[in-house]
Amino acid sequence: MANIGADFTKSLVTSKEIMEYEAEILKIHKNLNDRANSKTEFCGWLNLPSKSNKRELEKIKKCAKRIQENSDVFIVIGIGGSYLGARAVIESLTNSFYNMQDKENRKFPQILYVGNNLNSTYINELIELIQDKDISINVISKSGTTLESAISFRIFRNFLESKYGISEAQKRIYVTTDKSKGALKELADEEGYETFVIPENVGGRYSVLTPVGLLPIAVAGIDIDKLIDGARFAQEKYSDTNLKYNDCYKYAVVRNILNKRNKSIEILGSYNPKLHYMTEWWKQLFGESEGKDSKGLFPAGVEYTTDLHSLGQYIQEGPRNIFETILWITKESSDIKISFEEDNLDGLNYLAGKTVNFVNHKAMLGTVKAHVDGDVPNIIIKLDKLDAETIGHLIYFFEKACAVSGMLLRVNPFNQPGVEKYKSNMFKLLKEEVQLQKKK
Ligand code: PA5
Repeated sequence: MANIGADFTKSLVTSKEIMEYEAEILKIHKNLNDRANSKTEFCGWLNLPSKSNKRELEKIKKCAKRIQENSDVFIVIGIGGSYLGARAVIESLTNSFYNMQDKENRKFPQILYVGNNLNSTYINELIELIQDKDISINVISKSGTTLESAISFRIFRNFLESKYGISEAQKRIYVTTDKSKGALKELADEEGYETFVIPENVGGRYSVLTPVGLLPIAVAGIDIDKLIDGARFAQEKYSDTNLKYNDCYKYAVVRNILNKRNKSIEILGSYNPKLHYMTEWWKQLFGESEGKDSKGLFPAGVEYTTDLHSLGQYIQEGPRNIFETILWITKESSDIKISFEEDNLDGLNYLAGKTVNFVNHKAMLGTVKAHVDGDVPNIIIKLDKLDAETIGHLIYFFEKACAVSGMLLRVNPFNQPGVEKYKSNMFKLLKEEVQLQKKK
């Protein structure tokens, strides 16, 4: 199985400093494991890979096959943890131009996303795009009350019902929600929609390896068994209580040491645009898990080499409160040779015969050196290659590191009380306005 390795030699943190956390890590390890089976502790994600439910996986695959056969477009309706994980995996493992490919090459439905914003133009343009296509939708919401996804679901359910009639529309709507709570669950039961359950002890941002992520991922033609195999491998690997050999725990420790040294921003950078949404997922995972009680690193993302020409200057010479975690894929799935040209007008003949990935690698090494020399510590995470197993592994690596890191920081990494603040203001404003209009 392809593997992942973390290199801390450029983190400016010594092995001795890391090992000072040995006892604390052991305590956290035990605490997490003790909570993994509790229904109320939101630690159910910890053993998900080894406890994956065969019957549920078969149901996901069966539905995915049906969707692949009867739909040109599959619309994922969800926000935050209810869509980012699926998108991260799909974009990492499909063609960079998947949605633009013709049907013959793409083989599986286009995957489009809505319910992740409240922008009317975005929604209208999506409706315009799918007018003449066959579609199925998957609405994903654990609470079943999130306004962004609920509004989009209402719009797209109406669209489906007027396009296909109520009974055919029912067969094209897939609901992923809580086992018993929430408006979405009630609606799904009433209408008889195909329903998938989000385990009660798995929070949104830790839910990609539940039906939340697995149904859309399977519809995109990705092998979900392999994804889970990779996560299971990681579950085993990162249950090592010896900090010296556990890269996942080391990553959590190094982040905390750097944070204590006033590095307040962690930038996740990659050199493959397919990982763009992996970074978005990571930002939400760490941001919502750690940013509370006036604590937490600010998680930011860059895509290299693109952003060396935008944020590179800031990272190199701006405030010295940044460190980077770099994702590097050792073996790209393809490469391309740089040609020799007689006139050599661009002066690139010295690279003739070399490949684009060779240059990308040198760009990575050069950037790491420049940033480290400029007091931006770097942690390098190397993925042997980009496949379902490796991505499953990476997801588990980050989920566990995030939980451990939050616990080192002494915050609760499984709640998000701050997210409610904008919601209560928004609902208040909406209700006031509606009442005012009624009085007129
Ligand atoms: O991680 C989280 O808990 C959040 O990001 C939620 O996933 C997000 O707010 C959407 O919530 P819900 O699934 O209830 O619609």
